[in-house]
Amino acid sequence: MPVQTQCTVAEAVRLNDFACSLTLDVGEEMAGQIACGQFVHIKCGHSRLLRRPISICDWQENLLRVVFEVRGEGTEWLARRKAGDRLDVLGPLGHGFDVAAGSLLVVGGGIGAPPILGCAKYAASRGSEVHAVLGFRDAEHKMLTEDFAECCRSLNVISDDGSTGRRGFVTELVEEFLESRVCEGCTACGACGLAPVIPAVLACGPKSMLRAVAEVCARYGAPCQVSLEERMGCGVGACLVCACKTSDGHRKHVCKDGPVFRAEEVDWND
Ligand SMILES: Cc1cc2nc3c(=O)[nH]c(=O)nc-3n(C[C@H](O)[C@H](O)[C@H](O)COP(=O)(O)OP(=O)(O)OC[C@H]3O[C@@H](n4cnc5c(N)ncnc54)[C@H](O)[C@@H]3O)c2cc1C
Ligand code: FES
Repeated sequence: MPVQTQCTVAEAVRLNDFACSLTLDVGEEMAGQIACGQFVHIKCGHSRLLRRPISICDWQENLLRVVFEVRGEGTEWLARRKAGDRLDVLGPLGHGFDVAAGSLLVVGGGIGAPPILGCAKYAASRGSEVHAVLGFRDAEHKMLTEDFAECCRSLNVISDDGSTGRRGFVTELVEEFLESRVCEGCTACGACGLAPVIPAVLACGPKSMLRAVAEVCARYGAPCQVSLEERMGCGVGACLVCACKTSDGHRKHVCKDGPVFRAEEVDWND
């Protein structure tokens, strides 16, 4: 059950010119329920503003960390919070990633990196072999790479302008990774006799990136889950603000049925 709490900001850190990290002491009741890929709904300042959905980047004991970019009024207010300030937080909300045991490739594009860090850490702590590929606009937008490097078996970074990692899009890294996996143990040539070790792929980022990642995964037979972003109202399935169309023609609530969906469930033309 989601909990609404007045929590204390334990730490407020600026990660770069665009992104902030807040660690919140939300208490045991909320922190104890968190699953990978869920989000919290944070009341930002003025009462006329709705809550703002922000993914849970990491969690431990009573603490929960969110990392966000300043977009508008709400996130601007949030970015001015300091240690000791109080925040009204509702969560954990939504249906997150299904993190099965085995090999995992986590894929983050821009501000899509924070939501998959917690999943990478959680899976690695349970013995999964976790690999990460992250794409950023440029070196100035790069974030959390040290955190990923700490918990992942491999980390590859790419950027639009080549100022960090090589120049290109994150989908190229996904394709190269899956291709390398097929070659390591594919039965196609019969030489090695091993089954291919195709990882599950968890992705978060802009919709165009998610669509391209889903296409690559479908080609390699890699099960892919994506975390979608929609504008939200209530955050708990009670309004229709976040409705999105699924591939079977139905409508689902991103806040309640998602934000994580199997890639094949998503209607990419919606
Ligand atoms: C499930 C979920 C998890 C999210 N996790 C994160 C996160 O971890 N870090 C992070 O930085 N952001 C995250 N977001 C996006 C974040 O909620 C928006 O950036 C924030 O609500 C903007 O509020 P604002 O008042 O600052 O801007 P507004 O003034 O409300 O909007 C500024 C601009 O952002 C766009 N926008 C607003 N809300 C959304 C949204 N939900 N999705 C896409 N575009 C939006 C608006 O169209 C507008 O162009 C998440 C969104 C969802 C739905
Ligand atoms: S935000 Fe209200 S139903 Fe999803």
